[in-house]
Amino acid sequence: MSDELVTKRDGRIERVSPYLTEAQLAERIQELGAQLSADYEGKDVVAIAVLKGSILFFTDLIRQTSLPGLRCDFLGLSSYGSRTESSGVVRLTQDLSQPIEGRHVLIVEDIVDTGLTMQYLLDNLATRKPASVQICTLLHKPSGTKVEVPMKYVGFTIANHFVVGYGLDFDERYRQLPYIGVMSFEEDSD
Ligand code: IMP
Ligand code: MG
Repeated sequence: MSDELVTKRDGRIERVSPYLTEAQLAERIQELGAQLSADYEGKDVVAIAVLKGSILFFTDLIRQTSLPGLRCDFLGLSSYGSRTESSGVVRLTQDLSQPIEGRHVLIVEDIVDTGLTMQYLLDNLATRKPASVQICTLLHKPSGTKVEVPMKYVGFTIANHFVVGYGLDFDERYRQLPYIGVMSFEEDSD
């Protein structure tokens, strides 16, 4: 497993400590893919990647499914807030390319923290009359819950850490890491 990643930036030291390894992610995603393949067997499903955080999870997850009727679409959401806390004010930055009326929708998300982003998305998609909507999130931080959203598929339930990597960012950085790490900060005394 990779070592700690240490970066000096903006007068601070950023540390990323390995938390979920590539092997752990791969194993769990294989299980989720099998579960989705069983649950959606014989059905047409639209898997929606919530940009940008879910990109790596999405591409790995869909490769672990065996669903001939699977379609992919993309949707951009951004929540205003500080760099490590979301405010719950959500904005649609990119919409789906096709209608979802009458279709089974699977939302693929990186992490559910307060639940406010997913609540916004569920409300938004409901107006388009899909046949069903389920959430598949790689990570869930139950300690942050402000609104309970139904999550049928959860990769890992994690403690109250700020995590990066495997699609998740801090200030748009670290998305490319193949593993998930916990981020921490220190004053740079130099
Ligand atoms: P919410 O608080 O459930 O609305 O989550 C909003 C969004 O904040 C998620 O979709 C992520 O993009 C981001 N987020 C929440 N927790 C973390 C984290 O630990 N690392 C990186 N992004 C996070
Ligand atoms: Mg997100």
